[in-house]
Amino acid sequence: MTVETGRLEPDAVRTMFDRIAPVYDVMNRAMTAGLDRRWRAETARAVVSPGNRVLDSCSGTGDLAIAAQRAGGKVIGLDFSERMLERARAKSDQVEWIQGDALALPFEDGSFDAATVGFGVRNLDDLARGLAELRRVLRPGGRVAILEITRPRGVLAPFYRLWFDGLVPLLGKALPGGSAYTYLPASVRRFPGPEELAELLRAAGFGDVRWKTFAGGIVALHIGMAVA
Ligand SMILES: C[S@@+](CC[C@H](N)C(=O)[O-])C[C@H]1O[C@@H](n2cnc3c(N)ncnc32)[C@H](O)[C@@H]1O
Repeated sequence: MTVETGRLEPDAVRTMFDRIAPVYDVMNRAMTAGLDRRWRAETARAVVSPGNRVLDSCSGTGDLAIAAQRAGGKVIGLDFSERMLERARAKSDQVEWIQGDALALPFEDGSFDAATVGFGVRNLDDLARGLAELRRVLRPGGRVAILEITRPRGVLAPFYRLWFDGLVPLLGKALPGGSAYTYLPASVRRFPGPEELAELLRAAGFGDVRWKTFAGGIVALHIGMAVA
């Protein structure tokens, strides 16, 4: 497991995010030209209704959890990187921030009405287990939203390769923990495409699975409903 293969042990993933926490938000804005905020707001609105109990798993520096709270949710943001959580805590005291493992969620079955994950599931050591954990902590009829980077097809593909596989790792080399920006495109290359992720969601116990893409297909939003 190496950054070049886009696969790392959980401890290495946590250490990597601890290291890049100080530059994470700036890199997000730079890599997406600021569009990431809009994608997170739309992800939250897709599944959160006012008063919902919401889990934002792999919450990182907290932007998606905060979007879910703004959509009216009572939100818990969970992450295993303490340095990422420190940043999240500094942004909002309206969200409850918890250090924990997305593969062994510290919640009872059926605890939430909605769950969100932004750019997180790609980093999980066991994707099927991560999705099963989300299903377990949702009540039947609860809704999940997964926002994740994907690879565009068609005319945009060569530009995307130049930017994401060429320039992003170069940019990362100038930053603390910059090998994360070699890991990032490699992890996207090995991650399932949108159809396959939809299939994995169904296998984990979600029905009515739908997905859409943003920005010419560089990011996908999957939505599903926990079946009884
Ligand atoms: C790319 S960041 C995404 C942060 C945030 N959701 C966002 O939208 O920007 C991925 C986060 O997933 C967390 N993570 C990865 N594997 C995890 C696990 N097994 N349990 C908890 N957090 C995990 C990392 O610590 C990191 O903060």
